[in-house]
Amino acid sequence: RNVAILMGGYSSEYEISIQSGNVVHKHIDKNRYQPFRIVISKDEWYYLDDDDKKHPVDKNDFSLLLDGQKITFDVGFNIVHGTPGEDGLLQAYFELIGIPQTACDFYQAALTFNKRDCISTLKPYGIPTAINYFLNKGDAINAKDILNTVGLPCFVKANKAGSSYGVSKVKSEDELLPAIEVAYKEDDEIIIESFLSGTEVSVGVITYKGEDLVLPITEIVSENEFFDYEAKYLGKSQEITPARLPKEDEEKVRVLALKIYQILKMKGFSRSEYIFHEGEPYFVEMNTNPGFTEASILPQQAAAIGISIQELITNTIEEAIQ
Ligand code: DAL
Ligand code: MG
Repeated sequence: RNVAILMGGYSSEYEISIQSGNVVHKHIDKNRYQPFRIVISKDEWYYLDDDDKKHPVDKNDFSLLLDGQKITFDVGFNIVHGTPGEDGLLQAYFELIGIPQTACDFYQAALTFNKRDCISTLKPYGIPTAINYFLNKGDAINAKDILNTVGLPCFVKANKAGSSYGVSKVKSEDELLPAIEVAYKEDDEIIIESFLSGTEVSVGVITYKGEDLVLPITEIVSENEFFDYEAKYLGKSQEITPARLPKEDEEKVRVLALKIYQILKMKGFSRSEYIFHEGEPYFVEMNTNPGFTEASILPQQAAAIGISIQELITNTIEEAIQ
């Protein structure tokens, strides 16, 4: 089968996604699948061959012309972080042209990529979250009102972004406006959240052999002020799998992560984040195309229960095409 490994994207997470795509390309079972690295970039979509030569993709039917021969694809392995791979656009495109892709459906992607809308959807189900304050570009910024709502310290985030681009921890009132400016560079919507003080954990839930499977939990111990870009990708954190949680807390967060996966009608990969606060796990966010780099959490979680990267990739493809 021909597998298009979709990588790149239009956001700041482009480079991370290229790394993720290369990991999929390295570990995919080549006896079973014929993989093609397809770079989805702002300017062009192209197949990157093993000599790093580019061949354009025909967007009408997502095909390639190689040596005069037309190549079509059986499935897209979607590992584009950020737009258009994680916000529903690619999902919708593939659905329209009738090629399965490995991520969740377009609505789930669009909903979960929007932190505000994801939280608002989950709230009526009693899912605990931080206290939030939302801003749209152009809105008047009332610092007193914001800080009265969320308190200090707080987090300012771009509403639709990943890999901590546009995220700042704000510890005093004078840091608030600069943090808002940083976040507006990534998105025209902002979410400001109250600080949750306890242990941070990351929970992978995947569809595995037809069942929803919660992977071992990872505890995040950042050397920086929070789990920022440097902590995520440049080694400034410890990621401990399985997390050193009391059994009871582990069970609480496993149950919560599975419940959220099912409320949102997810499928394929997911990795959601929680911070313990007053003994309860609080939902922070859902990633539907989580990082798949050599440093990333989801493959480590799968490995912890004996699922190799290759098996994880095979399962993900088979779930998508059945
Ligand atoms: N957005 C990054 C890739 C992650 O969630 O791992
Ligand atoms: Mg994220």
